[in-house]
Amino acid sequence: MSTDLPPPAARTAVVIVAAGSGTRLGRNMPKAAVPVAGVAMLERAIGSVADALPGARIVAVVPAGHPGLWQLCRTAAAGTRHDDCVTAGLDLVAVAGGATRNDSVRAGLDAVGDAEHVLVHDAARCLTPPAVFAAVVDALAAGARAVVPALPVVDTIKTVRAAPDPAIAAEAVDSTPARSGLRAVQTPQGFRRAVLVAAQRQVAAWPAERAEAVTDDALLMEMLGEDVYLVPGDERALKITTELDLMLAEALIAAGEEHS
Ligand code: CTP
Ligand code: MG
Repeated sequence: MSTDLPPPAARTAVVIVAAGSGTRLGRNMPKAAVPVAGVAMLERAIGSVADALPGARIVAVVPAGHPGLWQLCRTAAAGTRHDDCVTAGLDLVAVAGGATRNDSVRAGLDAVGDAEHVLVHDAARCLTPPAVFAAVVDALAAGARAVVPALPVVDTIKTVRAAPDPAIAAEAVDSTPARSGLRAVQTPQGFRRAVLVAAQRQVAAWPAERAEAVTDDALLMEMLGEDVYLVPGDERALKITTELDLMLAEALIAAGEEHS
């Protein structure tokens, strides 16, 4: 009997969180259903995960009340090619998301099975290139327990405090961290599943407002004192949040930049 380990992708499950409402995009539909150059954001995200990590289990976390997104997942799982973005016959399940992103991550984690590693990925980062997935998976395979893709920040970032003079209705600068020591983090964020599950168990006991502040999964690892490793992110892994982001994503697709 061979004692070879299965390849990293086969030991990996990917939770794609796609249950947000898309308020800032303002299309009156869940953001994951919004077409990006004619293809729904979730469909693009599923396609890019399937291309980057063939054999990985995918858990799509979708809004309970949007039949179109559930159907999209069923189609991807059934192996009917919906269009060029979805590889046939994926190991994909859909589950209903929650009120906050972190609730949705938890719902997804409940469905990942016994994978050794889990990647948590925003459907809104639907143009993430395969190299970013590969870098995260490779770092996990090398022994990291938490890995995030990151880019240097281009803006100078300030921390702020409440207005010191009530007559001037504005926040004031508190400090200016050195830009060289700052990074903007993206997804997929990768973890040893058992470590992320343990962290999420703690969050379950938190009051709602504290849990809502969990905008990023690595934050939980930091709280547990885990080392969170950085791998190179990519500008194409931008999170589509506003109309301007959507325009940029569509321009990338038009330029043929999305999968290179
Ligand atoms: N998300 C989720 N469940 C939620 C909230 C967010 O699965 N309750 C997902 C989104 O679908 C998205 C990712 O988390 O893929 C990042 O969230 P964000 O960009 O904030 O998306 P929305 O919450 O949909 O957008 P908005 O905040 O503008 O409403
Ligand atoms: Mg949101």
